[in-house]
Amino acid sequence: MKRYYDTRAPEYDEWYLGLGVFAQRDRPGWFQELDELEAAVAELPAAQTLDVACGTGYLTRHLRGEITALDQSEQMLAIARRRLPEATVVRADALALPFPDKAFERVFTGHFYGHLERSQRERFVAEARRVGDELVIVDSAVRPDHAREEWQQRVLNDGSQFQVYKRFFEGDDLIGELGGGVALHRGSWFVMVSSHG
Ligand SMILES: C[S@@+](CC[C@H](N)C(=O)[O-])C[C@H]1O[C@@H](n2cnc3c(N)ncnc32)[C@H](O)[C@@H]1O
Repeated sequence: MKRYYDTRAPEYDEWYLGLGVFAQRDRPGWFQELDELEAAVAELPAAQTLDVACGTGYLTRHLRGEITALDQSEQMLAIARRRLPEATVVRADALALPFPDKAFERVFTGHFYGHLERSQRERFVAEARRVGDELVIVDSAVRPDHAREEWQQRVLNDGSQFQVYKRFFEGDDLIGELGGGVALHRGSWFVMVSSHG
């Protein structure tokens, strides 16, 4: 994952913006729903928030309050730092968060949880519960053209190829997996749920 995301960093936002290899994709309703998702993130009450696996900070920029943005990829963080001048930016492993217990009111994570296999996601949720009160997860909604769990072949603009594990979620399934919570966004592209441990 590390080499994939370091390589992908400069072109990562093309996924959101429909540029590069994503220009050819037929994604009905994508931009309207992305606006709704960004609004839902912006509507979260201001809080001391840790954004785990923040990537380029595309969603992080909508979080309100005192923001710490964490990722393992220096290439991602270089972009996030420019985008989030007010935030504290930290390079670290999401599965071993370098913070004391309950250091944050909220742990937020976008499009990361769905890349974790079972043992990794259990470890991530345990870490998120340890350092924060609320856990907010944004991820991909179930799609008619994808299995709920699959290994994907990802091709970057330079032609390099990577195998990536990826899951797609129904809001209720994700809430069940987290042991409770509420859906803050349910769409055909994205889900966002909030859960307290
Ligand atoms: C699909 S991107 C999501 C970026 C952003 N959160 C978003 O919603 O657009 C996944 C991110 O997870 C980061 N990542 C993967 N494994 C990680 C780990 N073990 N610890 C910290 N970050 C990790 C990658 O570097 C990448 O930036």
